[in-house]
Amino acid sequence: MTSFKELGLVNTREMYKKAINQGFAVPGYNFNNLEQLQAIITACVETRSPVILQVSKGAREYANATMLRYMAMGAVEFAKELGCSIPIALHLDHGDTFELCKDCIEYGFSSVMIDGSSHPFDKNIELTKKVVDYAHKYDVTVEGELGVLAGIEDDVQSEHSHYTNPDDVQEFVEKTNVDSLAISIGTSHGAYKFKVKPGEEVPPLRFDILEEVEKRLPGFPIVLHGASSVLPEYVEIINKYGGKLENAVGVPEDQLRRAAKSAVCKINIDSDGRLVFTAKVREHLWNNPKEFDPRKYLKPARDELIKMYKRKNVEVLGSANKI
Ligand code: G3H
Ligand code: 13P
Ligand code: ZN
Repeated sequence: MTSFKELGLVNTREMYKKAINQGFAVPGYNFNNLEQLQAIITACVETRSPVILQVSKGAREYANATMLRYMAMGAVEFAKELGCSIPIALHLDHGDTFELCKDCIEYGFSSVMIDGSSHPFDKNIELTKKVVDYAHKYDVTVEGELGVLAGIEDDVQSEHSHYTNPDDVQEFVEKTNVDSLAISIGTSHGAYKFKVKPGEEVPPLRFDILEEVEKRLPGFPIVLHGASSVLPEYVEIINKYGGKLENAVGVPEDQLRRAAKSAVCKINIDSDGRLVFTAKVREHLWNNPKEFDPRKYLKPARDELIKMYKRKNVEVLGSANKI
């Protein structure tokens, strides 16, 4: 058993308290490899932002559990070396079983999500409570989910979303003692969030549901998944240099700005990072067909990622200078 405290990590409790009181959202950025992690840490140090490093079940399988533990420890030291010790949490994104959550806690995660949203309400409560009871023994914080997002939630694929029912949230939080709650208000995972015709605006998020949830759970941390904006400039680069992403659409950033000022304390962004990375690698390889040194095409991707995350922290989430 490695405690997250030995790795220099923190859980999400203090971050969320500050986020609620000061009206911003902590970034929940997903990573799978070294370059993504370097970019996230550099951007968050340079903007003096707290950060939640997110690892999905698939990312953990890809990177290896032991490697990840040392990468997280390395990230804490890297931040200090860059000149600023920022609060860093290591979070399991969309954990689907008690065993996976327990394993992550034993490997030094400071926060876990148990996503029981595909189960009936009572089963979701039972599973979430079991994870919370275990996690809290080690001071690890837990995120639950109510309502279903369309798209892929790790291995769970749902074609249709169903919004969170505000009448359920109080009972869920009271019975599980969970530390934060992901809700469904119209976002979805991936790069194809809305079907819109050319020139048509994407439908607004259901802020009415968010407001009802806030009324039922005053001061309680809410989480927004599926919050990439699918930045058109990167989709364009991908398509210009041989990619084929058609009708990719995300959540407009002004809606995320509004959410960040509310009880939404964490905003999850994965796809935007993937798009930036892919765009820059494609561009470099297209323009330099003889190149085969990975450092040559990964560096521009990493540099662009840093720029994108910094802008998100400053202009969208409001998490800059909130350490
Ligand atoms: O919510 C899903 C995240 O974007 C993680 O995706 O399971 O492909 O790593 P993944
Ligand atoms: P995006 O696919 O919109 O980046 O959502 C990521 C997410 O919710 C991770 O849990
Ligand atoms: Zn998610």
